[in-house]
Amino acid sequence: VEPRNFADVRELARRRIPKVAWDFIDGGADDEVTLRANEAAFRSWVLRPRHLRDVSKRDLSVTVFGRRLELPVILSPAGLLRIAHRTGELGAARAAARHGTVYTLTSNSSVSIEDVAAGAPPGSLWFQLYIWRDRGRNVELLERARAQGYTALVVTVDVAVAGKKERDIKNGFKIPLKATPSMVLGLARRPRWVADYLREGPVSFANFDDLATGRRPAELFKQINQILAHPGATWRDLEWLRSVWDGPLIIKGTLTAEDAEQAVQCGVDGISVSNHGGRQLDGVPATIDALPEVVDAVAGRAEIFIDGGVRRGIDVITALALGARAVLIGRPYVFGLAMDGEAGVHRVLEMLRHEIDVAMALTGRASMDEIDRSCIAPASRAQAAAGVIPR
Ligand SMILES: Cc1cc2nc3c(=O)[nH]c(=O)nc-3n(C[C@H](O)[C@H](O)[C@H](O)COP(=O)(O)O)c2cc1C
Repeated sequence: VEPRNFADVRELARRRIPKVAWDFIDGGADDEVTLRANEAAFRSWVLRPRHLRDVSKRDLSVTVFGRRLELPVILSPAGLLRIAHRTGELGAARAAARHGTVYTLTSNSSVSIEDVAAGAPPGSLWFQLYIWRDRGRNVELLERARAQGYTALVVTVDVAVAGKKERDIKNGFKIPLKATPSMVLGLARRPRWVADYLREGPVSFANFDDLATGRRPAELFKQINQILAHPGATWRDLEWLRSVWDGPLIIKGTLTAEDAEQAVQCGVDGISVSNHGGRQLDGVPATIDALPEVVDAVAGRAEIFIDGGVRRGIDVITALALGARAVLIGRPYVFGLAMDGEAGVHRVLEMLRHEIDVAMALTGRASMDEIDRSCIAPASRAQAAAGVIPR
């Protein structure tokens, strides 16, 4: 079957990978209210099309930190992607480069900083860091990323502790995966995935191999979650990162005007309005609802991005109309990867590109600079309600 949209890709991914892996990707924290709201809240805006404006030539490119991206969609960091497909983060990175955009590699990747850089074209990678307790460890990761040509640093700040993902708890999801009795049937139904997994070896944290020596994998997971993670981190740590990283620096996870102001004071170049795809704190605002507050507070002092719930070309238009420079996507490309590796991610980006292009033509905007507040208006209650797609 040829997927037509995100819902199709999600469904095809479901048929390719075991439930434990699919739930790890698809799931959110607690009751998953924020997860659903991220998608639904885009429907609280409507588009205001203008007609007869010569849209025969359309340019989807945007400038991000002085560099041209062929479309306003960046791939957000996502960890442990060999659980989706044997090529993991590398497959996704290659597809991003083919579309003239960038891939953000998480420090928690299952393919190392070096291996992704070796397989992806130069200039197509950003690196995402969590602030680890051990500063030497942060410096080491940044130096590795810099040496391999990663051009920007994304610092994710919304994981002071791990959120409560109840599907993972129920499934007994752990790294390394350990087949529990309840998992066996699900694994038996996905022989191809199991064969790949057995051939390629356990999915683990490829950037922390040194920590793994002499440790059982389960201990490594514990080590990474409890020893490296740093709930004591403060804005001083961000200032310090600013002083050691000279390329563009983006903070990821901001949802309030206050934090946006602090981030600007620390000298960030970019802010990604994010709630981690509803995977951390449930009950926080949908990102599209938080975006205007951050855009207003920053007032042009940093480039603004948004991630969470972007599923359609019209969502991208709405985000840009509200002041985002570009959007980041998570699950859409991760499910594309699960569906068909690099080709699957390529397909997802192609679908989004096509939808953005059609939306531009039909709203009468030929380039991204023409997308401003005049493109959108608040939806009526009835229209917003009509937009909620049952999951
Ligand atoms: C499987 C998975 C793993 C993720 N791992 C990370 C990570 O390591 N670092 C990070 O900053 N965000 C991580 N995220 C969050 C994404 O970067 C992004 O904020 C979120 O997926 C956006 O929402 P969307 O999935 O609705 O597009 C992860 C998301 C998913 C789905």
